[in-house]
Order: sequence, then structure tokens, then C-alpha cells
Amino acid sequence: MNNTIKLREWELSDASSLAENINNPNVWDNLRDGLPKPYSEADGKEFIEFVLAQPKPATILAIEVDGKVVGSIGITLRTDVERITAEIGYYLGENYWNKGIMTEAIKQMATYVFTNFPYLRKIYATPFDFNTASHKVLEKVGFEREAILKQAAIKNEKVVDMYYYSLFRKD
Ligand SMILES: CC(C)(COP(=O)(O)OP(=O)(O)OC[C@H]1O[C@@H](n2cnc3c(N)ncnc32)[C@H](O)[C@@H]1OP(=O)(O)O)[C@@H](O)C(=O)NCCC(=O)NCCS
Repeated sequence: MNNTIKLREWELSDASSLAENINNPNVWDNLRDGLPKPYSEADGKEFIEFVLAQPKPATILAIEVDGKVVGSIGITLRTDVERITAEIGYYLGENYWNKGIMTEAIKQMATYVFTNFPYLRKIYATPFDFNTASHKVLEKVGFEREAILKQAAIKNEKVVDMYYYSLFRKD
């Protein structure tokens, strides 16, 4: 893998590149519902405006590969008694799959998150049972599979399990 992978804050001018990469059923079939389908440049702009309006430090970053934005990675900070945890979510344009890019992006994000949100004890992810690529990435980064949440979701009219993976703060 010789690509230069960088996480950075979103810019409004990333909207077209974002739409180009996310407007694909092979991407959105692995994600939560709620994404506009099809995903237009205007949808990308709305998303970026939402991200830029959030408090700092940013919780959602753009994934830049060789100078081009090709994906997104972010956390949702949990509240109340779960406020020491955050859920991570991520996606990459299909042209960039299987090059080790997300493995590197999640490593960079984990460092960023544990540095900028010092009260967090763990970052977790809940990929669908069928998303083997996502399981593999998380395991490569060092996430531990803590549980299988049985019949936890419905995707494309099919009831599916979710795998619960965690990465714990080391210090
Ligand atoms: C899941 C996703 C983020 C992976 O990103 P990526 O940059 O391709 O991941 P990497 O290249 O770092 O690693 C992927 C690993 O999965 C493996 N893999 C891919 N498809 C696989 C499959 N169907 N079965 C088994 N392993 C698979 C690859 O071989 C690679 O492992 P290796 O390095 O040991 O060869 C990307 O496919 C994606 O964006 N998918 C759509 C959105 C999504 O699923 N988001 C996550 C929601 S939880």
C-alpha cells in the first residue's frame, strides 16, 4: 500500500467527491439507513454543513487519499452513563477498497479520538454480521469482538445480527 492517507476536517468543496464515492449501493448496503439514495452533491453539501456546525474538536473527518477525499470516518459520542464510549463509523468509495486504506484511517482516527476526547475509555463499532471486510479491518487495527448482538437490526428487509467490536484506551 503506497497511498498517502490523511484525515482532515471537511471542506464544502468536498461535496462532489463525497457524492461520487458514496452514491453506490455497495457502500450504502453496509451502512445505517438514513442516507439519501441516490446521494447527490447537494446531499454531500448538506452533510458537510452539518459537520462544520458541530462543536470542536470535530468528530467526523474526511479521508483524503493522494490529495482526494474518498471517504468519511467519524464517531458518535454516547451520553449519560455511556458517556465514556463512542461509536465509530466509516466508509470508502468502492474504487479504493482492499488497499489497506481503512485500516490506516481507523488507526489514525483512534489516536485522534483518544487524544482529543481524554475521558473516553473505548471506541466501539457495530458492523452487520455479513460485513466481513469491516470485521477484518477492525481486527487488523486491534479491536476485540466482545459480543454478537443477535437480531439487532433490519437491513434491506432482512433481520441481521450486529457484531460489537471494541478498542480500549491503553493508558
Ligand atoms: C469495510 C470497508 C470500510 C473496508 O475498507 P478497506 O480500505 O477496503 O479495508 P482494508 O483494505 O484496510 O482491509 C480490508 C480487509 O478485508 C478483507 N476482505 C475484503 N472483503 C472480504 C470478504 N468478502 N471476505 C473476507 N475478507 C474480505 C481484505 O482482504 C482485507 O484484509 P487483508 O488486508 O488481510 O487482505 C470498505 O469496504 C467500505 O467502505 N465498505 C462500505 C461501507 C462499510 O461497510 N462501512 C463500514 C460499516 S461498519
